[in-house]
Amino acid sequence: MSEMQATYLKDYLPPAYRVTHTELTFDLDPTATRVKARLHLERHPEREAGLPLVLDGEGLTLKQVAIDGQPLEADEFEADAHSLTIARVPERFRLDTEVEIAPDTNTALEGLYRSNGMYCTQCEPEGFRRITFYPDRPDVMATFSTTVIGDRESLPVLLSNGNPVEQGELPDQRHFVTWEDPHPKPSYLFALVAGSLEKVEDHFTTQSGREVLLQIWVEPENLDKTDHAMASLKRAMRWDEETYGREYDLDRFMIVAVNDFNMGAMENKGLNIFNSAAVLTHPQTATDAAFQRVEGIVAHEYFHNWSGNRVTCRDWFQLSLKEGFTVFRDQTFSADVNSAPVKRIEDVSFFRTAQFAEDAGPTAHPVRPDHYIEISNFYTLTIYEKGAEVVRMLRHLLGWEDFRRGSDLYFARFDGQAVRIEDFVACMAEVSGLDLDQFMRWYAQAGTPEIDAHGEYDYATGEYHLRLSQRTPATPGQSEKLPLHVPIRLGLVGTKSGHDLTLKLADAAGGSETLGKDAVIHLREAEQTFVFQDVEEAPVPSLLRGFSAPVKLRYPYSREELAFLLTHDSDGFNRWDAGQRLTMLALDDLIAAHRNGVEKVMDVRLVEAYRSLLDEPGDDQAVLAEMLTLPSEAYIAEQQPVVDVDAIHAAREFVRQSLAWQLRDAFLAVYRDNQNDEPYAPTPEQIGRRKLKNVALAYLMSIADDEAIGLTQAQFKNSGNMTDVRAALTLLAHSDRSDLAEPALKAFGEQWAHDPLVMDQWFTIQVTRPQPDVIERVRFLMEHPAFSLKNPNKVRALIGAFAQNRVNFHRLDGQGYKLLADVVIELNRLNPEIAARIITPLTRWQRFDEERQVLMKAELERIRGEKLSPNVYEMVERALA
Ligand code: ARG
Ligand code: ZN
Repeated sequence: MSEMQATYLKDYLPPAYRVTHTELTFDLDPTATRVKARLHLERHPEREAGLPLVLDGEGLTLKQVAIDGQPLEADEFEADAHSLTIARVPERFRLDTEVEIAPDTNTALEGLYRSNGMYCTQCEPEGFRRITFYPDRPDVMATFSTTVIGDRESLPVLLSNGNPVEQGELPDQRHFVTWEDPHPKPSYLFALVAGSLEKVEDHFTTQSGREVLLQIWVEPENLDKTDHAMASLKRAMRWDEETYGREYDLDRFMIVAVNDFNMGAMENKGLNIFNSAAVLTHPQTATDAAFQRVEGIVAHEYFHNWSGNRVTCRDWFQLSLKEGFTVFRDQTFSADVNSAPVKRIEDVSFFRTAQFAEDAGPTAHPVRPDHYIEISNFYTLTIYEKGAEVVRMLRHLLGWEDFRRGSDLYFARFDGQAVRIEDFVACMAEVSGLDLDQFMRWYAQAGTPEIDAHGEYDYATGEYHLRLSQRTPATPGQSEKLPLHVPIRLGLVGTKSGHDLTLKLADAAGGSETLGKDAVIHLREAEQTFVFQDVEEAPVPSLLRGFSAPVKLRYPYSREELAFLLTHDSDGFNRWDAGQRLTMLALDDLIAAHRNGVEKVMDVRLVEAYRSLLDEPGDDQAVLAEMLTLPSEAYIAEQQPVVDVDAIHAAREFVRQSLAWQLRDAFLAVYRDNQNDEPYAPTPEQIGRRKLKNVALAYLMSIADDEAIGLTQAQFKNSGNMTDVRAALTLLAHSDRSDLAEPALKAFGEQWAHDPLVMDQWFTIQVTRPQPDVIERVRFLMEHPAFSLKNPNKVRALIGAFAQNRVNFHRLDGQGYKLLADVVIELNRLNPEIAARIITPLTRWQRFDEERQVLMKAELERIRGEKLSPNVYEMVERALA
């Protein structure tokens, strides 16, 4: 069971030998690709002399090994399933190896594999060891020279990192291209692509005048789906120059779209490889959300060129060093080029639903974990999104200018190095003079901190006392938690004026500091009281504006206070949050009523709050759309001590229908006012209108009277963009009327049978229906010709989406759990990384009632009985620990 052993951060040692230059030659063949590697190695100056050379290698057939041109005898080396060990090597030497690998049978999609006939690679985090024997760890950085040899006819395009330096013809209809990457890089950033691809080209001139060739490589039928990615790339390149002073550093930047890809995309140096779902868009095939996702991911991977590639991670425990910072950078970019409040609302509602759930479950881990069995399991919401929130807190604590100076210092000081999270934080401390020692706990402690806030206004003295207390619940392996350094952005909104009041914060020395009307205070103690002076009128506190820290903040707001903040808070995010809190109070009552079998009564204050929103729509339709969107069932579930899926569904539907009945005319008016005849463009204005219109239509369809049905059917038939078509199809398919659902699904499925990314949407729409026949439908669709368990997008679209269908996945006959477990067991053999991801909903069994707990655990036990990959093994063990 050696592969099930954990790796610990505390055991880190520099590599015994480092590679200064790597020369690779690939002779491509579907079942017998030959990889020759020539590594220029030298002893690491910090390690002792005479250590054996141990290289990682997974599933490789070794053909040759030589040192300085001398082939080794069989007793001079040892190769096992995971490594190649050479006991005696010189201080500095050249190692030649030749191995054989089989891209065609690689269903794990790590290393070199084939997708639709093309060859491609995925090496992060430990895929390179499936290509050749190598010290496959991020602190070994080498320049690369790569020659790719392939069939001229079927593989006309041969790509790797850097710049092409030579190409030519070879015997047997073969040809080759040699690529050189002058920037030292870890093996996880290596990439190779070969296939019959076509390109779209553009150019970018950097701030210092360097001409960069931009290419997006796709299969020929997708050439009309690259415009948006290209435009996004150019925007991102300009933004990173203007915002962070970061310039691109090679003569070309390439993006390749592949259909079979475990994740969204990968930032390989100069040759980003993308899941086709994360790069291809067309108004007729991709929704607004997909357009925005593509923009964000293109930017994310591009930004990695500095935050990840030029400065990389010392070891994989530091993963959030590059991912947290880069997610923060892409979030800010998207906010800058779209509607900033909407971007924040979207990110936070996702975060509070999914990351909070992870942090409260059996797989909770710190932003910097201290051990793992399988590092691929740690590409998580905690590492990425919580990591980004931690960086955002640094931005709040330092202010933008110091934060930017800290970022400049970090890039200058560590360029070309593999470093740790504390190196980044130390730069921030150095430029600002701030003590960030306590702040480092954010990286070490798992779990979502809970903050209780109480406020009291003294009319006589004009003082407002804000008492805050924090605690972080125990998480697996961490029972004791220390207080964190939490930036709380806040305002005090005057109940008479409706305006933000000046914040004058008393200090310990008896003085005070005037902070303005919107400020950040630093909570550091377990309990701390902040005294604001000269507060002219009784305020309602607006706390944690913009979600300034990844915490749960409780404050005993009355419904009147929430309704007040909903209309008066100067912070758009907190206006939205007040609405969410108000809706949650109503939902709590209705959930209780449902459980107690009492008649449900709609809260009139909620209806009036919605009415006032609809009466004064403002000019940001996207914000209004968010304000009118009810919390998701998953988010509501997060707030319950024991999740009652049926009560949650019933309560939410009741609210939706009550609002629709009482505000029907207003929703109709909003629907009509936001029709748009302009040609489709993914602009924030158009996206906002479509979102608002479709939110209104969803309310109307919750009543499903003739008028609503007519509007929905017309939109489904007549609209020319996928956003509107999909919104309408979803409403028809999720209605109780099969005479509406079935013809629409059939027409759509036939129209788009040739387009895999649209078929993904077709699968998702069907398996997220609330109707109880869904499990049977999932099993049926798994046999559909467009479905394949080997394609991660299909697995996510059908199985992953089904597991988010709360009422059906959690059906009391256990069939939903059984279905998911069946798929996990099969995927455990085919693609362990995907198997370990889709198992997640089962690992959350502790949140449910006794009956469901028993059913879920039984399926986990059944999975545990299989011969498991390290990926699934680690997840199951954590879930059942
Ligand atoms: N670094 C890539 C990205 O964010 C993700 C790579 C994930 N790899 C994996 N095997 N899970 O941006
Ligand atoms: Zn990333």
